[in-house]
Amino acid sequence: MSENSQVGVGSPDAQVSSKRGIHGTWPSRWTFVLAATGSAVGLGNIWKFPYIVGENGGGAFVLVYLVCILVVGMPIMVAEIMLGRRGRHSPINTMRYLTKEAGLHGGWNAIGWLGVTAGLMILSYYAVIAGWALHYIGHMASGTFQGVSAEQAGIIFGDLLADTNTLIFWQSVFLLLTMGVVMGGVTKGLGVAVRVLMPLLFVLLLVLLVFGYQQGDFARGFSFLFSFNIEALTWKGVLIALGHAFFTLSLGMGAIMAYGAYMPDHARIGRTVIAVGFLDTLVALVAGLAIFPIVFANPTIAPSAGPGLMFVSLPVAFGNMSGGLLFGSIFFVLVTLAAWSSAISLIEPAVAYLVESKGFNRFTANLLLGFIVWLVGLGSVLSFNVWAEARIAGFNFFEFMDFLTSSVMLPLTGLFIAIFVGWIMKPQAVREEMNDEPSSVFFVWRWVVRYLSPLAVLVVFVMGIYKTFS
Ligand code: PFF
Repeated sequence: MSENSQVGVGSPDAQVSSKRGIHGTWPSRWTFVLAATGSAVGLGNIWKFPYIVGENGGGAFVLVYLVCILVVGMPIMVAEIMLGRRGRHSPINTMRYLTKEAGLHGGWNAIGWLGVTAGLMILSYYAVIAGWALHYIGHMASGTFQGVSAEQAGIIFGDLLADTNTLIFWQSVFLLLTMGVVMGGVTKGLGVAVRVLMPLLFVLLLVLLVFGYQQGDFARGFSFLFSFNIEALTWKGVLIALGHAFFTLSLGMGAIMAYGAYMPDHARIGRTVIAVGFLDTLVALVAGLAIFPIVFANPTIAPSAGPGLMFVSLPVAFGNMSGGLLFGSIFFVLVTLAAWSSAISLIEPAVAYLVESKGFNRFTANLLLGFIVWLVGLGSVLSFNVWAEARIAGFNFFEFMDFLTSSVMLPLTGLFIAIFVGWIMKPQAVREEMNDEPSSVFFVWRWVVRYLSPLAVLVVFVMGIYKTFS
């Protein structure tokens, strides 16, 4: 077991009165950048971004998404890291410490609870999708997609969705992998892995981009992603774009707050966030530019195909390029790894909490949480087959979990974080933690977090919910 396996028993109050965390610190700011990028870059970028762009009409959606990243996502990421580093505990205890420090009502602790719960809910379906990627590694390597047409690729994917046992098998494997890493602690294994894997993932995305450029309808793919067609935009779409800005940057669910708690004291938060935000956005855009040209070159794949988009369009690309089976297998390995480095940050906040406050060690905390997440995840597995027709508020179970977390819980937690940091926390405390930033940067950031971010989230959230259900 690692440095993270110490059991931090004691009353929550004893825990939160101390500022020194029990989980250790990243060795450098750079390791934090890697860990946060590992958390941010995941299925959200490669799988989810392209399909929600497809479902929401393309360019206008992309533009709104970029604005959300800049105006809401990155400023709130700074706020989350700042809170985490000041509290130095799991998000729940960090919020306890900070509300106590500011002499506030305990209701603010809800930020921690909401985030940790959202993280586990997301992991429940995230593991199912990551399971598809795991399954596709073998399919690719064994030549199932050799010379395949778009139609055949669609049928193969449909068969997978209908096969409950296979879905559960791979979902379980992925969860075990995730639990395995978190049991051992995050700093060593992942810091190293991410440093090697992220560049590799990027290189492979570039390979695909070149394939899309040469063999697909690149011009159409490009203009679908980047031409602004205001008519395609709806309030519901804007809410999805906002929710996705949170999702892709791993905000509003404690992950970044938890990682911030392990950040060295004097690392500059602003620069760090710019690096993470830039890399994350780049991966999403490149994934879109790789996927859509292939989609448009094959009339049987619709841009609005939904969650299966990547699992149909990319196998067609790989199956029809030389060396594609090898590249394809490596690609799905990397997607799995990207998902893996994100998944650990979904469960880590809850694990850290159980270790700090409930006397668990990392092993038992993971077993308990992993089992709960697995159980809830069965709902998503079944929503692709047996429960395909069942509806909650108009969504199937998987869609409902996604909507509830991405479009409701994350924006709300983000809103509370912005209000907490901008209006509730003592300004000196905020400035103290942001000491290493020049005052101009601090001033602009604080203004954005006080006014722009909460207002944007509030308007989009209210209009989005209203229009979704009206
Ligand atoms: N940011 C990850 C992605 O884009 O796939 C998903 C994610 C990871 C969300 C960790 C939230 C989180 F805490």
